[in-house]
Amino acid sequence: GWRLPVPGYPRLESVASKRAETFGDGIPHGGMYTREELKELVAYCADRGIEVIPEIDVPGHNEALAAAYPEFFCFPKPDMKVRTVAGNSKELVCPQKPEVWKFYAAVFKELKDIFPSKIVHLGGDEAPTELWEKCPLCRQARAGAGMKDEQEQMRDFFARMTSLLAKNGQTPQFWYEGNAGIYHPGETVYAWRQDQARQSIDKTKKAGLNLIMASNEYCYLDFPQIQGQYNWGWMRTTTLRKCYELDPAFGKSPQETGHVRGVHAAAWAEHLPDLNHLLYRVYPRAMAIAEAGWSPMDVRSWDNFRRKVADHRAFVLKRFNYDLERTKENEPPFRWENKK
Ligand code: ACM
Ligand code: ZN
Repeated sequence: GWRLPVPGYPRLESVASKRAETFGDGIPHGGMYTREELKELVAYCADRGIEVIPEIDVPGHNEALAAAYPEFFCFPKPDMKVRTVAGNSKELVCPQKPEVWKFYAAVFKELKDIFPSKIVHLGGDEAPTELWEKCPLCRQARAGAGMKDEQEQMRDFFARMTSLLAKNGQTPQFWYEGNAGIYHPGETVYAWRQDQARQSIDKTKKAGLNLIMASNEYCYLDFPQIQGQYNWGWMRTTTLRKCYELDPAFGKSPQETGHVRGVHAAAWAEHLPDLNHLLYRVYPRAMAIAEAGWSPMDVRSWDNFRRKVADHRAFVLKRFNYDLERTKENEPPFRWENKK
C-alpha cells in the first residue's frame, strides 16, 4: 500500500492505500499516515538521537501506485488492483512520461516538509526491466540517447531522480542490485542480497560507492529466528547468534572495506501478524546487529553479549508490556489461515 498523503493526488488515499485482503485472508486492509503523525514520529525519534530516513521505492515495488495512477506506467492497466501478496512485480513507472516526474517532484516536496533528513532512500530493488524493454516510449528514448540497454536507462532514471532530489537539498540511497554501473560515484547503497556481501564489497569499492551492510542472512529480522519456525518456504533461519556473528567487513582488510559505512537491519512487516510479534522478531536481534556495527571483531564476545541481552530483556518486556504467550499463538501462518 501507499501510506504517504501527497497534495494533488487524492487517489493515493482512495485507491492506493487500500487492499482487498492479505495473503488470501478475505479481510480488507488499509491506512494512510497523516502529515502530523509522521512529524510526531520524526520528533519522537529525534528526541532519542534517531534520524528517520524515508524510503520511496522507484521504479518498481509500485503496484499500489499503478492501481491509483495507471497512466504513470509503460502499459497502463486500468483494472490493476493493489497487490495482496508479497513478491515483486514487472510494473515500473515509465521514465518517459512527464506526469511521472511531476508526481515525484510533489512526493519529494512532501518528504522535505516532513523529514529533516537530507537523505531519501529511493529503493531501486527488484525492478525487472521487461516492460521498459517493450515500451515504445522507452525504446525511442534509449535509441535517441544511444543507450545500449535498459540498465543504462536505469542509470539515467536514477540520475534524473537524483537531480530532482538535489533541488530540495536531498540525496538518494539505493538497495544494491549487483550492477554497480547503474549508480553514481559517491552514492550510498545497501548490500541486501543473500550470500552476495563479499562480491558487493569489492564491486562497490571499485565503483566509488559507499556501502551499508544489510546482507539478509544476517540482517533481515523478519526471518525466523529459531530452527523449525515457519519460514514461508524460503526464509533462512537467522538465529540470535548468527546475527551476532555479522562481520560487516566479511573478513576483508580495512583497505578493502573503508567504504563500508555501517550496518542496517530490516524488519519487513508483511509476514508479521501484529506489533507484539514484530517486537519479538526484532528484539534481541537488533541488539546483535547494533553491536556488530559498533564493535570491532576482536573485542566481540558472545558470552558477554548474552549477559547484556539478559539486562535488556527485562527492559523490553516491561517497556512494551510484552506478551510472550500471545506471540506464540500468533506465530505465522496462524492469522492468514485461521481468519479466512
Ligand atoms: C529487499 O529486500 N527487496 C531490499
Ligand atoms: Zn516506458
